[in-house]
Amino acid sequence: MHVLGINAIFHDPAAALVVDGEVVAAAEEERFSRRKHGKRPVPFSAWELPELSAAWCLAAAGVDVDSLDAVAYSFDPGMCRDAASLGLTDPWDWLRVDYAERAPQFLAAALPGLDPEKVRFVPHHVAHAASAGLAAPTAGDDTAVLVLDGRGEVASHLAGVYRGGELTSLYSQELPHSLGLLYEDLTRHLGFLHSSDEYKVMALASYGEPKHLGLLRELVRVTPEGGFHVDRIDWASMAKARAADGEMTDEHADLAASVQARLEEVVLDLARWLHDAAGGPATLAMAGGVALNCVANARIAAEGPYRNVWVQPAAGDSGTALGAALHVAGALGDRSAPMSGADLGRGWSDEALEAELRRAALPYHRPESIAAEAARVLAGNGIVAWYQGRSEYGPRALGHRSLLAHPGDPATTARMNDVKGREQFRPIAPMVRAERFADIFQGVFPSRYMLFVHRVKPEWRDRIPAVTHVDGTARVQTVHTDTEPLVAELLAEFEQLTGLPVVVNTSLNTAGRPMVDTPREAMELFGSAPVDLLALGPFAVHRHALGADRGRDGGR
Ligand SMILES: [Fe+2]
Repeated sequence: MHVLGINAIFHDPAAALVVDGEVVAAAEEERFSRRKHGKRPVPFSAWELPELSAAWCLAAAGVDVDSLDAVAYSFDPGMCRDAASLGLTDPWDWLRVDYAERAPQFLAAALPGLDPEKVRFVPHHVAHAASAGLAAPTAGDDTAVLVLDGRGEVASHLAGVYRGGELTSLYSQELPHSLGLLYEDLTRHLGFLHSSDEYKVMALASYGEPKHLGLLRELVRVTPEGGFHVDRIDWASMAKARAADGEMTDEHADLAASVQARLEEVVLDLARWLHDAAGGPATLAMAGGVALNCVANARIAAEGPYRNVWVQPAAGDSGTALGAALHVAGALGDRSAPMSGADLGRGWSDEALEAELRRAALPYHRPESIAAEAARVLAGNGIVAWYQGRSEYGPRALGHRSLLAHPGDPATTARMNDVKGREQFRPIAPMVRAERFADIFQGVFPSRYMLFVHRVKPEWRDRIPAVTHVDGTARVQTVHTDTEPLVAELLAEFEQLTGLPVVVNTSLNTAGRPMVDTPREAMELFGSAPVDLLALGPFAVHRHALGADRGRDGGR
């Protein structure tokens, strides 16, 4: 069966293709359109489809529109109710529903030849749930699934269990109560962009004290049936609203710390309730925008009742394209296969990469090992633009479209945040070979997708200051030789040169732009930021080779 998944309704439009139960391609529209998050998160944009990523998914797999068995759309307008009756203030919500109802016609226009009858609506949180429960490595066993979201049709949360590939929903919290919308409101109050910058609030929280936790415990409460209630919150009574360019004060950090602390307590309670209600499964799989909160995830893993916690790397709405497709493939009789990795986007052959370098007349060469070449530059405190294989699905760079640096220099954080035009309070993250993880860090292992925070062992904090956050934590990616041999080789080479088994890894983009996707974008970034080496597939372009030699040693 060929099932195309589409997310278009709220934000982060994306497409995914599932063939015989296996995800073969998935990509976010922003990587194609070069517009961060794909579109504005407003009802007026709900008609916009991930046309470019959908067309690419089909082309990449050699599937034409005629041979699609179904198109799975991750929102079901038939479940919707009037916004006011849900307690939401959203005067244009009906427009979103109207556009969703017409999605089959919009899709038929975007994908010429598509029979609109093939479009199936999948409830938004069923799509999130499938992106976790059906894609997790343990998908064959009973798996508890917790969706923590901003909003879907009428709810913000789903607690359920997958048994034999079938979802049983145990509780779903109706709107207006929403942990995602709570965090979005806070994000807006602190002067950041909601539905986008929530992770900045999480980083800010570690600078503050949870001074308002007592009050927030009264306002945000779990309920006995496995849900929660969120009362109206007067944010200004706790900290003044901050303008986008306003000063960040202790008051703002304390508010972020308070909400973060209460969120962690609530999601822990929800995870515990689910464990009991689902009959004590060993694994919890999570998705929904709130599941990108790696501090909360780490607490669930450490203090919750599960042996394994797995989080969908595209936990936000983009992941619903993949989840909706897996759900419909299952309904059509296909057994889903766990996803093999997050590298589900575009990739180029070595020949195509070399042609791009020649076209740009860049002085490149092909070293014996690009991993060793990059490790040498990093050991000399250089910055490396690392472009390898297929691009990542979801918000994290995981060694395919990454900007790498030395973890031992305390100045690295400021330097990287400068390259990327980011706020200086934001931490940068380490990647480490799986074999060396336990020597340096404590916490969830494996952590292939950077969705948990870890403790840096005290004796290592001064050795890798660039990746150690103010509270002694780091958001680690573990690198496994079986799935990421090239990155593992780079880390091993770097350790040989420096004694440090860790490299700084951040996403390959500059401020406000989506992650680099194509080789041309990688070269544009290299040309516009102080990067010392561009490692484009097996080819190396050194900053110091630009200038007099420009264009002469190409192809050496
Ligand atoms: Fe969602």
